[in-house]
Amino acid sequence: MRIDILTLFPQHMDEMLHESILGRAAKKGILEINCVQIRDYTENRQNQVDDYPYGGGWGCVMMAQPLKSCLDSVVAASGDRKRRVIYLSPQGKTFTQQRARELAAEYEQLILVCGHYEGVDERFIEACVDEELSLGDFVLTGGELAAMAVTDAVCRLVPGVLSDAACYTGESHWDGLLEYPQYTRPETWEGRTVPEVLRGGNQAEIDRWRRKQMLLRTREKRPELFERFTPDAADQKLLSELERDARRKVLTEPIECRPAAPEDIPALSLILRQARNYLKRHRVDQWQGDYPDETDLAAHIEAGDCYILSYAGRPAAVFCLTMEPQPNYDLITDGKWRFDGPYASLHMTAVEAEFRGSGLADRMIEAGEELARGMGALSMRVDTHRHNEAMKALLNRCGYQFRGHVLVDEPKRDPKRQAFEKEIREKE
Ligand SMILES: C[S@@+](CC[C@H](N)C(=O)[O-])C[C@H]1O[C@@H](n2cnc3c(N)ncnc32)[C@H](O)[C@@H]1O
Repeated sequence: MRIDILTLFPQHMDEMLHESILGRAAKKGILEINCVQIRDYTENRQNQVDDYPYGGGWGCVMMAQPLKSCLDSVVAASGDRKRRVIYLSPQGKTFTQQRARELAAEYEQLILVCGHYEGVDERFIEACVDEELSLGDFVLTGGELAAMAVTDAVCRLVPGVLSDAACYTGESHWDGLLEYPQYTRPETWEGRTVPEVLRGGNQAEIDRWRRKQMLLRTREKRPELFERFTPDAADQKLLSELERDARRKVLTEPIECRPAAPEDIPALSLILRQARNYLKRHRVDQWQGDYPDETDLAAHIEAGDCYILSYAGRPAAVFCLTMEPQPNYDLITDGKWRFDGPYASLHMTAVEAEFRGSGLADRMIEAGEELARGMGALSMRVDTHRHNEAMKALLNRCGYQFRGHVLVDEPKRDPKRQAFEKEIREKE
């Protein structure tokens, strides 16, 4: 791609446009960017490029002759190429990513004409310009900033300028959406932590999350863009999920925690089935066999360690809490427990589907901690599958820390679990 910029200020532009990515591409011969001084093509002794407007009025207008001579010289020097002459003007069509793509794909040379003062003689535009492009509905002093913006946006789309097409195809405005939020190190900055999903390493989940964010932020930040966007079937599905998220319950009714009773088993097994399906949908190899089922519930209820969290009197979450030492926790690998003394462990936690995202899961953990404290526990231990992002995010939010790996007895399933711990003793 060759770009020639006709301007009264070539020097500063040249420096800017030969820095960094474009500069390197120019060195490699992928781009050629020339900034040409219009004043060098005047035919008067004073090298005058502008004059007063016919009909009177404020300021001066750039004369057609120097512009045309400059343009002719550039065309003559650049040979036979598919070229487009563009005048940067507040009266042009607004420049967009779509137009940048078309210009990069369709032309071998762009000649960008920068006006100054009150603009340029209309006859030059009529005779020589193929297209007018504007940077937006505002007026600049000259066309230079606009020409640099067009040059930059077009050139980065030229093959070879960026290392991979993926560098720009996923960016804002490529397919009508804004890009997802980006984060870099450190993981926590001023109390704000990078979203869990981005740290989990599950690429399919990351891609889904990012696409959802693109839809969400375009709808919120640029509703007019979103109106023009046509979602495909996959996007439609994500949008329905976003609708569901928005309708999520706000907890206004009383929440109570009590030991579960045998008559709760049907409601609790429904919650466990929902959790099993949720894990299956998220490809988590946990609870995908028989465990936990009604027999397990009945056994825990009989042992007195199964609890129910009810919302407005209706079963909304289930968990088991025990002070029994867990022999498999003694065999922790890749780390160690940090807190000595009696501990409680939390198992079989599940929240009714309708309450996902409502904060009820956090209330369940709090309720478990309060019970555990009442039983004399100084710390709480929990394990979960390494792909169970929802549980890990919950534990993270509630102040639990990863300690290592333990093995659980879930027949024919991946037995490895991540182990988390939190000190729960009352601070004096
Ligand atoms: C002060 S402006 C002239 C504006 C002109 N009198 C008008 O009202 O349409 C001087 C030059 O800046 C450039 N310019 C100003 N605003 C621009 C914009 N929004 N986009 C692109 N170029 C712009 C054009 O090259 C223009 O010739």
